[in-house]
Amino acid sequence: MPKSRTVTPKPRNSAKAVQPPRPTLAARADRYVLYQQAVQAPEAEVRFIHRAYRRVRGRAPSSLREDFCGTGYLSTAWAKSHRGRTAIGIDISTEPLDWGRANVLAVESLSVQARVQLVEADVRHADVPPVDVIGAFNYSYCCFKDRATLLGYFRAARAGLAKDGIFICDLFGGTEAIATQAEERKCKGFTYVWDQAEYNPITHESLNHIHFLFRDGSSLLEAFTYDWRLWSIPEVRELLLEAGFSATAVWWDPIDADDYRKSECEEQQATWLVYIVAAL
Ligand SMILES: C[S@@+](CC[C@H](N)C(=O)[O-])C[C@H]1O[C@@H](n2cnc3c(N)ncnc32)[C@H](O)[C@@H]1O
Repeated sequence: MPKSRTVTPKPRNSAKAVQPPRPTLAARADRYVLYQQAVQAPEAEVRFIHRAYRRVRGRAPSSLREDFCGTGYLSTAWAKSHRGRTAIGIDISTEPLDWGRANVLAVESLSVQARVQLVEADVRHADVPPVDVIGAFNYSYCCFKDRATLLGYFRAARAGLAKDGIFICDLFGGTEAIATQAEERKCKGFTYVWDQAEYNPITHESLNHIHFLFRDGSSLLEAFTYDWRLWSIPEVRELLLEAGFSATAVWWDPIDADDYRKSECEEQQATWLVYIVAAL
């Protein structure tokens, strides 16, 4: 994740004595805290993982591997949700892992801390024990832009599962997913902006940024940047089968109901979200 640019509002002309400038809201903000507030909902994800595993295996899962874990927010929520649950979070970058260890894990009980391991590694080559569920959320696997590379990742995920394991990833799409546009959402104390800056219809590559805006006019522009290929649902399902999974299912996020439901046919929407679940 790239470092963010801080934009300071221009000072107004004033005849008063020069005061040391007060740090802006942007200068005082922590981009990982803002990201947690604006983007992440780990409790809902924990519920979905439990539900999907029960549906496939008829019992509750206990071990989770969170690929592309960033700060390990979901891994920690998983371990917190039941004392029998363990989590391994894997990320290639030192910075979010260190932030997560200091700000997410360290504030939890010793029991939770003992059941979460945050590992710095490439998800395609991580040497960690097999688990019941591997999750790849917030579309992170879209950083793998060609078929061979994504297939290699899915093969590695399959090899990382225990007997009866399942793999879950999410995906977004819809008519607006390929539009170059920015969407603002008010959050407590700041505005979150999802900026679909570039989209190449020939390669389906898409460059996206997250910006945070503050009421004093300051901002964290490009606080996070994602250089992705927008995969389609059938492409992902076909690659999962090619990687050796025996079956895949799509869980659709309906506009008219609270929770995801398994589905094979839906009408196109401006934006849609799905989970794709693959079983060994
Ligand atoms: C979109 S963030 C996801 C953060 C978190 N999983 C979430 O749900 O919000 C993507 C993360 O993937 C990590 N990443 C990118 N390529 C990776 C790879 N090959 N192996 C492991 N982590 C990787 C980045 O360092 C970054 O922290």
